[in-house]
Amino acid sequence: MNTADPTVPLDELVRLRRHFHAHPELSLFEFDTNAFIEARLAELPFDEIRSKVAGTGTLATLVGGRPGPVTLLRADIDGLPVQELTGAEYTSTRSGVMHACGHDAHVSILLSAARTLVARRAEVAGTLVFCFQPAEEGPAGNRLMIEAGALENPHVDRTFALHVYSGLDVGKVGVRDGAFFASADEFRLTLRGKGGHGAMPHCSVDPITAGAQIVSSLQSIVSREIAPRDPVVVTVGRFTSGTTFNVIPDEAVLEGTIRCFDSEIRKSMPGRLERIVQGLCAAYRVEYELEYHWQYPPTVNDPKTNAIVRATAQRLLGVENVVEHDITMWAEDMAFMQELRPGAYFLVGSRGDERTSYPHHNARFDIDERALAVGYQMMVGLGLGHE
Ligand code: NI
Repeated sequence: MNTADPTVPLDELVRLRRHFHAHPELSLFEFDTNAFIEARLAELPFDEIRSKVAGTGTLATLVGGRPGPVTLLRADIDGLPVQELTGAEYTSTRSGVMHACGHDAHVSILLSAARTLVARRAEVAGTLVFCFQPAEEGPAGNRLMIEAGALENPHVDRTFALHVYSGLDVGKVGVRDGAFFASADEFRLTLRGKGGHGAMPHCSVDPITAGAQIVSSLQSIVSREIAPRDPVVVTVGRFTSGTTFNVIPDEAVLEGTIRCFDSEIRKSMPGRLERIVQGLCAAYRVEYELEYHWQYPPTVNDPKTNAIVRATAQRLLGVENVVEHDITMWAEDMAFMQELRPGAYFLVGSRGDERTSYPHHNARFDIDERALAVGYQMMVGLGLGHE
């Protein structure tokens, strides 16, 4: 790949990324990160800076010198509750907290791109909103930013966002039209039976037996009810019950995640789940309570907006380095903005060697820092709006 582009401030990108990497903060607690970002942005002549949006987010507006749409460029800023094991010189200084998803790279890329785009303001077509968003890892910071007004004043016409990705070689960009990341919803099922002696099951109502049947039968939603062309995942990740080997407990609790790409299928899932739960609970004489929590919708790329990402990447990196990427079952909270505005989300390859091949959220996750240059070039290219 070409990292010799003299316009890419690779030293600055790396310095910033390592600073954030060494000082990770958990979702909604990104106070130092927020202060660092806002101090950097304050050095630059933006038209407006909205600080401490949704607590630890920032929105910086730049009116370009040429006419054009209002474009929001987004970086998520939070780390994860993971104890880092990379052994890197810039390893986390905060015990039990780590930038294990690469959001440190996203902040560094967007800060550096912002500096360049401010300097090249006269060339920018339209208005740019630089969005530094907290709490991607769970509390849906993207939705909090929307509620705090991120898509208005100015009215945002379209959005772009990226993620570094250890599943893709450095130097490459992954794009996809339509649904890219899955929805992710959660359920919690409480089964109430009647506890008793393990030797006398006929005097009890066993919630574990019922729960075991439910775990197995839920898989028939995917295998027997949904068309094979439509990817759906039903996972029971937690099944808790009982205190010891010879006691039938009163209660069992099952918790799981449901993921898919189609919004009609997504809407149908609680009904399918409950029908199976209801039937089996009746069969096994168990009472139940089912909670279903709608979390992240699927992340859907608008083809027209995505065409801009594809064209920009092809121009900057060469056609051979732009990959039409498969769907992924992750969820991504940028889905909320992309439900409301045409948007495009893309992947920036960050895998250079074995050390940078660990999956995201792994304690050994790290990136090939040449990915910072690619992300920076993409954000500058999209920000300039030269199509
Ligand atoms: Ni992430």
